[in-house]
Amino acid sequence: MKIAILGGTGSLGKGLSSRWIKAGHDLIIGSRDLSKAQEVAVELGLDASAGMLNIDAASHCELACLTVPFAHQEATLLSIEGALADKIMIDATVPLMPPKVMRVQLPIEGSAALKAQSLLGESTTVISAFQNISAELLQTDADIDCDVLVAGDFIEARNTVISLAKDAGLTAWHAGPLCNSAAAEALTSILIAINKKHSLAHSGIRITGH
Ligand SMILES: NC(=O)c1ccc[n+]([C@@H]2O[C@H](COP(=O)([O-])OP(=O)(O)OC[C@H]3O[C@@H](n4cnc5c(N)ncnc54)[C@H](OP(=O)(O)O)[C@@H]3O)[C@@H](O)[C@H]2O)c1
Repeated sequence: MKIAILGGTGSLGKGLSSRWIKAGHDLIIGSRDLSKAQEVAVELGLDASAGMLNIDAASHCELACLTVPFAHQEATLLSIEGALADKIMIDATVPLMPPKVMRVQLPIEGSAALKAQSLLGESTTVISAFQNISAELLQTDADIDCDVLVAGDFIEARNTVISLAKDAGLTAWHAGPLCNSAAAEALTSILIAINKKHSLAHSGIRITGH
């Protein structure tokens, strides 16, 4: 699949890209800065031409994944307006509001994913995922002891994202409609608090049952 990572020069973008490249996907690294995008593309073993401005990355892909800090989610999505029509966009944004990152602070829209959906409009299918996965671990070959909650209003689009999570070596679950993304986004602040209070490096979540 031709996947564009919007904000792909950052930690999570590099982590997801490296795993999807290994799985055989065709990655485009998006950035606000063309030369930075090209540098990171080469760093990831791609041709420099796989680095593009976010707007071009969004236009050239089949599916996009947004990996920018919450404070820049809106500006990034407005900058690529229209380029994701009839495509899936995975939103990994966690609405952390520094300095109180251990406190759940969901935006007025209910969640970052719902905000993304309202900014992009109905022609784009927003699916939320990966909020609880450590970018640092994704950049290694380590087994990651954390599941992925996949929320979205369309089951086929959720299936696509669950399959991409598997390609990245992760176990992913249907977590219901997009409004349920609030739970996954909120969990990140709890995991950050657990890391700090229990001196863990990468706490995670597992779904159990049989
Ligand atoms: N880090 C993690 O472990 C992790 C795990 C799960 C979810 N998340 C979520 O994933 C998202 C990305 O996290 P990250 O750690 O990868 O972030 P990051 O490395 O701090 O930033 C990612 C990219 O965002 C772009 N960016 C930075 N400032 C910007 C601005 N003013 N306007 C537009 N774009 C800007 C930059 O790309 P360019 O400069 O190239 O444009 C940057 O490389 C966040 O919402 C985070 O909460 C992170």
